[in-house]
Amino acid sequence: MNYLQDRTFLLVTGASRGIGREMALQLSKQMQTEGSLVVLLGRSQQHLDETKTAIEQARGTDNVKLKVLSYTLELATATATDFAELLKQSLQGVDIETFKRAIVIHNAGTVGDISLHAREIGDTKELTHYYHINFFSTVALNCEFMRVFRQLPKLIVNLSTKAAVEPFASMAYYCTVKAARDMYFRVLAVEEPSEQTLVLNYAPGAIDTQMTEQVQRDTHNQELAAAFRQQRESKTMLTTEQTVLKFLNVLQAQKFKSGDHVDYWD
Ligand SMILES: NC(=O)c1ccc[n+]([C@@H]2O[C@H](COP(=O)([O-])OP(=O)(O)OC[C@H]3O[C@@H](n4cnc5c(N)ncnc54)[C@H](OP(=O)(O)O)[C@@H]3O)[C@@H](O)[C@H]2O)c1
Repeated sequence: MNYLQDRTFLLVTGASRGIGREMALQLSKQMQTEGSLVVLLGRSQQHLDETKTAIEQARGTDNVKLKVLSYTLELATATATDFAELLKQSLQGVDIETFKRAIVIHNAGTVGDISLHAREIGDTKELTHYYHINFFSTVALNCEFMRVFRQLPKLIVNLSTKAAVEPFASMAYYCTVKAARDMYFRVLAVEEPSEQTLVLNYAPGAIDTQMTEQVQRDTHNQELAAAFRQQRESKTMLTTEQTVLKFLNVLQAQKFKSGDHVDYWD
């Protein structure tokens, strides 16, 4: 099934760089229908503009025009009201019913303080801040997305990770939040009919982005740092393009059931 053939609403969080930028780029490239709308979210307007330019350049001039909007939003403090307002603004003057499908890619994420051990992460202020960025905002956005597009078929993608299902030393923040996100989306998947709301927890593999650079630099897990260093130096670390193309193949093949956790390496 081609999810991007018909008139589509697409929202990507963390679209300013890394996997999110590539998701926005590759998915937009495949949208062929006049009236589709792409919404990019991040904190850096400059980097969101670069993503928008990359999309426009990739589509060329002889293609149907795609509307691309971008909004800056700090996920550490964002509320349901902010997401509702943002969706309202992006849909101004647009009849929702004319879309055939709405897609959200919950991609934005941070790795947390990886210099600490699990026994040391007891600062509730810091935990709340981290969970707000990576869990509360994701769930709040998802709720607003479900409400606004209740009548449309929806595809909901959570950028997951192997760390959601396997513990890694130094990654207590990250592993716990990603496990929580996976479970939230699994619950959503068992509650909603999959023909109307299809959910995918996609683990992209280890990708050459700022996130893995940070892990390599700051983790106290020397084994993990060495593995990333080795992959980077030997140029075997996956690229954002490789993982997004795999993601598109997973979607196309439709061998997963709603709510499944699918890894790049599966
Ligand atoms: N890279 C990997 O190997 C890997 C592996 C497994 C899973 N993942 C997952 O894939 C997703 C993308 O990872 P990535 O490697 O592409 O990360 P990245 O290069 O660090 O990009 C993170 C994105 O999240 C946004 N973001 C971060 N903090 C934010 C905040 N407080 N408010 C709003 N936006 C914020 C950033 O935008 P701004 O800075 O512009 O705000 C950026 O666009 C994450 O969910 C990550 O957990 C990555």
